[in-house]
Amino acid sequence: MKKLEEIRLRKGKEKIVMLTAYDYQTARIVDEVGVDLILVGDSLGVVIQGSPDTKSVTMQDMLYHTRAVARGSQHTPIIADMPIDSYNTTEDALANATRLLKAGAHGVKLEGNKTEVIKALMESGVQVMGHLGLMPQIAETYRVKGKDLDEAQRIYNDATQVDDLGVLAIVLECIPEALSRRITESVKTLTIGIGAGKYCDGQVLVINDMLGLSSDVGPKFVKRYADLNKLVAKAIATFKKEVVSGEYPDKDHTYH
Ligand code: KIV
Repeated sequence: MKKLEEIRLRKGKEKIVMLTAYDYQTARIVDEVGVDLILVGDSLGVVIQGSPDTKSVTMQDMLYHTRAVARGSQHTPIIADMPIDSYNTTEDALANATRLLKAGAHGVKLEGNKTEVIKALMESGVQVMGHLGLMPQIAETYRVKGKDLDEAQRIYNDATQVDDLGVLAIVLECIPEALSRRITESVKTLTIGIGAGKYCDGQVLVINDMLGLSSDVGPKFVKRYADLNKLVAKAIATFKKEVVSGEYPDKDHTYH
């Protein structure tokens, strides 16, 4: 298993690669290819459960998917998202982070500049990843954050404060490149961008998006490295045709 402390030491030297995974088989492939971190993101609310956002994801959901991913990952540390309302108090945060670690996570991610909560988790030995910029658990609309000076300064201040707590990394979601560059150059910890340009210390994408599993193209920053939607639809259509025609099952796929 890669060590989180070693990953953190790569700031400024080597880019960090993180991908989401939500199930055993995907985690196994991601782990075999070899990335630095697997994120069991609460984006599963959207890409697995079909909800419009991440606001309905529960601790039960996160525990279920974290356990599945942990079974598939032999070498890659797992970061599990703390879902909405699971870290409203330091007591809740500690109890729920402990459950996620027991389910197989090596660290947790939470949204916002939650100084007291992050401090309490870190003092208990929990590795924490921050998440700033667009924060889907509280966002009313999905838009680029930090385009105006006031908002940019707020995000910058939050990043430096979260950094001072000694977090493992900070995800920067949907902010202009100039801002993520300024943050990356100012903080001691790793920045991992999603829609935040090339100057971050690392990049993360939602695996369903980068594999082209979703039917729409998604936001501008999503690069589709495959078109699985098309591939899967083609395979299903062929199966359907062969069942209807009697071509499947043939003798090679039948017990005699
Ligand atoms: O939930 C998630 O997948 C995330 C990424 C978008 C960073 O938080």
